[in-house]
Amino acid sequence: MTCSLLGASAQSAFQVNHGPYLQEVTQDGATVVFTTSQKAFSWVELKPHDAPEAEAVRHYNSKDGLKEAWNTFSSVRVEQLKPGTRYDYRIISKEMRSFQPYKVVYGDSIATEWHTFSTIEPRKQGGSIFITSDMHSNPRKLEKLLSLADYKTCDAFFYVGDMMNYIDNPEAPFTSFIDTSVKLFASSIPFEVVRGNHETRGNLARTYSSYFPKRDGKIYGSYLLGDVMIVMLDSGEDKAENHWVYAGLTDYDAYRTEQAEWLKSVVGSKEYKKAKYRIILSHFPMVMGQEWKDEKAWYGWEDAIRKFLPILNKANVDLLISGHTHRYHYHECGADGNAFPVLEQGAVCAARLDLQDGNIRLKVIDTEGKVLKDIVIRAGK
Ligand SMILES: [Fe+2]
Repeated sequence: MTCSLLGASAQSAFQVNHGPYLQEVTQDGATVVFTTSQKAFSWVELKPHDAPEAEAVRHYNSKDGLKEAWNTFSSVRVEQLKPGTRYDYRIISKEMRSFQPYKVVYGDSIATEWHTFSTIEPRKQGGSIFITSDMHSNPRKLEKLLSLADYKTCDAFFYVGDMMNYIDNPEAPFTSFIDTSVKLFASSIPFEVVRGNHETRGNLARTYSSYFPKRDGKIYGSYLLGDVMIVMLDSGEDKAENHWVYAGLTDYDAYRTEQAEWLKSVVGSKEYKKAKYRIILSHFPMVMGQEWKDEKAWYGWEDAIRKFLPILNKANVDLLISGHTHRYHYHECGADGNAFPVLEQGAVCAARLDLQDGNIRLKVIDTEGKVLKDIVIRAGK
């Protein structure tokens, strides 16, 4: 992250130390997320691409009449943007050295460089999508896979769970995969996350959603990229709620039931039906290999299949991409009660989808650059 100091000592340690990264970019808005090294008052300046700086408008995170301040983690939503339009933004932040009832002492001010992003173009056809999972806090593996998949030619990025081993310190999401994403693309193109079971573990797991803010506050959701509909399921934990490892703190059965109701409404929606391509992302595969069935230990995974698969089987799904099992395996349509193909992409792999003219080209590569799969699936079949 490069920042310039505004009227302050160049030796100052005050800086934007994580991000900015984009979340929930839509046709008319985007969320900018970043952290500062000290408590601060921060905002986002936004202008049409290549417009003069004088046209930049300030956007704050305001709540109940107060602008957010005295914080290090910031999430600022910019709205009322035009569809399919390029914008430039930067972060301005003023260090707060003291915040008393009748006296605020500001320190250094910083401005990041300008970044450019585009809102979603509703008429966009197809696109190129990068998908991986199960990096387990190994950002070097992620960087290698992004490179091998030619990430610079991708329009969208999805992480399908277990990008971290657990969350036991606030830096874990950054050091595991966010910082690497920012270094390569995430200040200009958002990544979307699907939670894996490992991200439900650790004493800070309950802060997970704050790193990936959504207006509806949910972790599961759908994402419409032109004529591509992507549904992101949150499959929860793999074992039974009463397993000793969860210490009585999980409530996934009810959560998956709630989510199944939501899934029914999504696949019945006008947007879903109208989409040319329908891709489902889920950390757990929606089929279970015999070796796992024989273990009889995966109640949570079975519960996810029991609740989600019947809905998906009637929803003209083109492809489901999952992780979790750490093996590469491709389940043909109909192999195990699935009405659509299911990819388990493995712990050292990434999938790249190129969608064009009703064709979904699926390419799976591993960290050695080996191509494990390269097929074309006809959308809507
Ligand atoms: Fe997993």
